[in-house]
Order: sequence, then C-alpha cells, then structure tokens
Amino acid sequence: MWNLFNKKKKLLYPGFSWLQRDIHNHLLPGIDDGSPDVETSIALVRDLAEAGIKDFVCSPHIIQDMYRNTPETINLALDKLNEAIRKEKIDVKISAWAEYMLDEFFVETLRSGKQLQCISGKFILTELPLSVLPSNLESMAFEINTSGYHAVLAHPERYLYYHSRMESYTRLKELGFSLQLNLLSLTGYYGPRILTAAKYLLKHDLIDYVGTDLHHFDHLRMLTEKSSIRIFEKYLGGRIWNTFDEV
Ligand SMILES: [Fe+2]
Repeated sequence: MWNLFNKKKKLLYPGFSWLQRDIHNHLLPGIDDGSPDVETSIALVRDLAEAGIKDFVCSPHIIQDMYRNTPETINLALDKLNEAIRKEKIDVKISAWAEYMLDEFFVETLRSGKQLQCISGKFILTELPLSVLPSNLESMAFEINTSGYHAVLAHPERYLYYHSRMESYTRLKELGFSLQLNLLSLTGYYGPRILTAAKYLLKHDLIDYVGTDLHHFDHLRMLTEKSSIRIFEKYLGGRIWNTFDEV
C-alpha cells in the first residue's frame, strides 16, 4: 500500500525545446469544448510545462450558436486560471486570444467595430468548417485585412475540401492568412489524408506557426509520447517555432 501511494509519477519526456509558445489550445476552463474546470486546466498545464512548454496563448472557440465567447468571458476564465497557476506556483506564462470560426457571427462582430480578441494588437486566430468551404471566404479575408487585423488560419491540413486541390493553399497565403499546423496532424492522429496534407504544407514551406490544439488528456498523451516527439523533431526540428518576433 505504501508503495502504491508513494509511487513517483513518471517524468514526461521533455521534448518541446523548439516550441517557444503554444499558440493554439483549449486550456481555459469551462468556456468551450476544452478543459471543463480549473482543476483539469491546472493538471494539463503542469504536465505540458514538465514536457517543456512554458508559454501558452489560449484560444477558446468563438462559434455562432455554440460558443459565443467574448473578450469578457475569455478574460474572466484567463484570470481564474492565472490565479490558480499562481497559487500552485507553476512557472508558466498564460495569455489568451481566441479561435474565431469564420461564420456570420464573426462577420457581425468584425463589422461592429468591437475590438477582437487578438495578440500584439492585430493577430487573430481563425478557423473554417472542416467539410464545407464558405463561399464568402475571399470577401471575409478582405474585410479582415482592411479592418487592420492579420489572420492566422488554424490547421489548414484538416479542411477536407483542400485535400483534392492542395495548390489552393497558396491562395490562402495570397489572401493574407498565415497558416498554423496542428502538431498531432504529423502523427497521423487525424488520419492519413490529413497527414499527407500536413507534409505537403511543410514541404512547400507554407506553414508559419504550429500549435497543440490541445483539448484534453488524450491529446496530451499523444503529444508527449516519445514516438510523437521524434516525428516533431524530424519535421520541425532545426528552428525555433512561434517566436512571434515579427509581432
Ligand atoms: Fe482549436
């Protein structure tokens, strides 16, 4: 019994020295489909810190009819998490932007002139529906740019409609999007077609940022497996990612 309770937790493989900050995750408690409460967030952050990630820009969903988060709901959750982090004395930095679904609600919000949840005054994280390309994508990109924002598009490799026409990824760059790859796409976690698209994007030097898109402990386990770390080092090693030096 003594041994059972005193069994030391296995140290996580510290394999993320090349990742300066994680810019895509759902660590904020209770406001989307990520961490449900502060206790879970703390446990996830503690393990990620042990694996070598010390700087997090959280990106809760903002989706019409699902998660109508606002800067107020996001910053409230951020304050709660930061307070718990301080109490637990975990040495990490946590801030927040949001993952904006490019839907009608986003267009309304953008046109309202209200400040979007961004970092460095102009960078917003955006996403598209996985299986249907919005017909107004080009006009939304134009409105984003003319409103003074710079959009980072989350996980371009996951959008099914680009798999049969990967040359369209360059059009996204022309529209002004920076592209952010999900790390787990490289492990085959989301399936072989997404792995193929991820390799294509890297091979053609189209990826600007990477992110964990971590929602829960399954993602954490997959991300910190030794085999996954080897894959990340193979495809992403040799440079420091997400420095945001340009911001
Ligand atoms: Fe996400």
